[in-house]
Amino acid sequence: MNNELINFDKNTGVFHLSNNEISYIIKVEQGDVLAHVYFGKKVDQYNDHHNYPRRDRGFSGNVPGQNERAYSKDTLPQEYSSHGSMDYRVPASIIRRENGANLTDFRYDSYEITPGKPTLEGLPSAYVLDENEASTIMVTLKDRFDDIYLDMFYTIYSNRNVIARSINIRNLTNASLSLEKIASMQLDLTHSGIYQDVLSLPGALTRERQMNREKISTGVKRFESRRGASSHQMNSFIALLGADANEFDGEVIGVHLVYSGNHCFELEVDQINQIRLIAGINDYNFTWKLKSKENFQTPEVLLAYSDSGLNKMSNTFHDLLRERVARGEHQFSERPILVNNWEATYFDFSDEKIEAIVDEAANLGIEMFVLDDGWFGHRNNDDSSLGDWFEFEGKLKKGLKGVSDYVHQKGLKFGLWLEPEMISIDSELYENHPDYLMQVPGREPSPSRDQHLLDMGRKEVRENIQKQIERILDSVDIDYIKWDMNRSMSDAYSIGLESQQQGETAHRYILGVYELMENLTQKYPKILWEGCSGGGGRFDAGLLYYMPQSWMSDNTDAVERLKIQYGTSVAYPVSAGTAHVSAVPNHQTGRMTSLKTRGDVAMSSILGYELDLTTLSEKEKKEISNQIIFYQDLRQLVQYGDFVRLKSPFEGNTTSWLFVSKDKSDVLLFVGRTLANAQPEFNEVRLKGIAEDFLYENQETRDVYSGTELANIGIYYPDFYGDFQTKLIHFKKIEGK
Ligand code: DGJ
Repeated sequence: MNNELINFDKNTGVFHLSNNEISYIIKVEQGDVLAHVYFGKKVDQYNDHHNYPRRDRGFSGNVPGQNERAYSKDTLPQEYSSHGSMDYRVPASIIRRENGANLTDFRYDSYEITPGKPTLEGLPSAYVLDENEASTIMVTLKDRFDDIYLDMFYTIYSNRNVIARSINIRNLTNASLSLEKIASMQLDLTHSGIYQDVLSLPGALTRERQMNREKISTGVKRFESRRGASSHQMNSFIALLGADANEFDGEVIGVHLVYSGNHCFELEVDQINQIRLIAGINDYNFTWKLKSKENFQTPEVLLAYSDSGLNKMSNTFHDLLRERVARGEHQFSERPILVNNWEATYFDFSDEKIEAIVDEAANLGIEMFVLDDGWFGHRNNDDSSLGDWFEFEGKLKKGLKGVSDYVHQKGLKFGLWLEPEMISIDSELYENHPDYLMQVPGREPSPSRDQHLLDMGRKEVRENIQKQIERILDSVDIDYIKWDMNRSMSDAYSIGLESQQQGETAHRYILGVYELMENLTQKYPKILWEGCSGGGGRFDAGLLYYMPQSWMSDNTDAVERLKIQYGTSVAYPVSAGTAHVSAVPNHQTGRMTSLKTRGDVAMSSILGYELDLTTLSEKEKKEISNQIIFYQDLRQLVQYGDFVRLKSPFEGNTTSWLFVSKDKSDVLLFVGRTLANAQPEFNEVRLKGIAEDFLYENQETRDVYSGTELANIGIYYPDFYGDFQTKLIHFKKIEGK
C-alpha cells in the first residue's frame, strides 16, 4: 500500500491526502463536524494552523451540543453539509424520515484507509490497474440521532493531480428514508478570493460544449441538465479559475461528474463571500426511497487541480479519462478512418448505392464503412421501427450479412448504427409491448422526432432489447457499433415502481442503460463502440467508461467545429470524440469550405468521412487519399499525444492547437483563420508544451527550429487568402548538428 498518500494525525484530527503535486486536507473540527481545510498545490507538512476563525455572526446559529456562539455550520467550510441544522447554504443532501422531518446533523464517526480504489456498483468510475497507484480513504459520518451513515470516499492517485470522490449512504434505521437530494460531493473553498471565475461548457444540438467563462457572483448558480441525459445544453463539467488564470498560468480546479443523466453543479457565494460547490445527480425530479438496511451509491466526481492554468487541468483529465476511465480493447487502439452513409444517403439507400460507396472507400484507403440509420424494421424515415432490431427485409437485397461480407471482402471493417433506448409507436415492439414505452398512465406522452424512450429501468425491457441486439451481433460480422440516442426524457414514470418511488425513474433509466452497455460491451469486446446522442448530447465521462469514443456533434461544418472541438478539449481527450469531413454546402449551415479546411479540422480529432464518395471529382479523390495517408501517419500523435490549446476561436478570428507526443519528438500544429480581410494583421503563434531543448524540423519546408525559438518567438501563420483557411504543420525532432 502506498502509505504516504494519506495521513491521519490523531492529535489534531487532520487527514492529509497528498502526492508530489497536490494536497487535500480535512479536519475533524469541534463537535466532530468534518471541516474542509484545503485543496490545492502540495503542502509538504501541514501543522494544523489554518483553523477556521471563530466569530459570532448572529442569525447563523450554532452547532448543537457545542454551546459556542462563535461557531456555526452556516459559515464553517465543511466536507458534506447537513440540512436543517443551521447551515443555510445549499445543502449537499436532503433526507426525509417517515415522520416527515428532513433535518440531519452529520458528525464524524470513523475512517478506513485502503490501497487502490474500489469500483462503484452499477456505475462508471475511474479505476486503478495496480493498488500502488492510489489510496482511498473512507471517512464515515453519522447522523447525530439516527443510524444514517455517509461513507465518503476520497481517492488520491500517486501520480495524477486528481481526487476522486463519491458518497455511499447507508440506512441502518428500521424505517425507509426518502433521499430528496444526495450530491456526490461538496467543496467549500477556503480561498474564495482566489477562485473568482467559473468556466462551463453550455451549448445546444449542433453547438455543443462552447466555452463560457463568467464571474462567480452572489447567490446560487446552477449548471444543470434536466433532460434525462448529460445533454447538449450543459455538459457535466465545470472549472473554477483564479481571476488571472489563463491557459498557462494561474490556479484552476476542474470538476467532472462521471454520470450520463440529470446532473447539477450548484455554486454559491455566501454572506461572507465564501464559495460552496455541490455536484451530483440533479435533485430536480429526483427522490429515492432508501429502505431500511439498504444503501445508495452516488456517481463519482473527479477533481483536478492545476497550478499552471487551464491547459494543465485539461491534460490531467485527458490522461485520466483515457488511461483510467475508458476501458476495453480499443482504449488505446488507433481508431479506424470510417465513412458513414448518413449525410450521404440519409434513409435512402440500396445495396447498389452502399456498394458503390464502399468501392470508392476502398479505393481511397478508408478503413471502415458504417451503415447508419434505416436498415431495420420498416424504417424509411424517422417516424417508425425503433425497437425492431431486425433487418428491413427487401431494403438491402443481400441483407445485412451481404453488406457486411461485401465490405469485408473489400478489406474494410463494417460498422452498424443502433438506437437501443427508443421505441416508435409504429413498431412491432410497441404492438407487442406498449407498456415498455415510458409514459404516465392515462396521459398522452410527448413525442420527439416521433419517438419515445423505453423504460430502461425495467429489467424485462432491457432484456428484450439485449436479446434482439445479440441476435444481430451473433449473425452478422460487425466491427463497430454507433449507439445513438435521439431525444430528451419527458413523461418520466415507470410502471415498475410504486407511487412513492416515481422520483427514481430518471436515475434508474441511466442505471439500466449502464447495465445494458456493460453487458453488451463485455460480451462483444472486439467491437469498437461509439456513443452518440444527436451528436454530443451524452458526451460525458460516464459514457466513456463503456465506449472509448463518441460522435462529438451532428454539426460537421468545419468552421463551427473549431469551437466545438476547442471547447470539448477543455474536459475531454481527443481519443474521446470523432469528427467527419462532409459535403459542401454543409448540411447544417450551408457554408462552403474547402476540402483542405474540412480535412484539417477533422484530422484534429478521430477522422472520418460522411459524404457521398461516388460524387467526388478525381481531384477531390486524390486529396482525400492524401489526407488519409497523412492522417494514418499522424493518428497515434493526434489521438494519444498531449493536446495544447493555443489560440481560442471564442476570442477572435484565429484558432491554433497543438498535438505533442509524450516524448515531445513529434509535434503537429493546427492554425486556422476564419474571416479574411484586405489588410490583414500578421498572426503569430508560440508553440507551448514542446521540448525547448530539442531541435525540430518542419516536415514540409525542412526548416529547422530550436525548441526555444518555437516556444518563445513562435512562427507566423501562412499568408492566408480567403475565408476559412487552415493548415497543419508537422515538426519532428532531429538530432543536433
Ligand atoms: C443522430 C446522429 O447524431 C446522426 O449522426 C445520425 O446517426 C442520425 N441520428 C440518424 O438518425
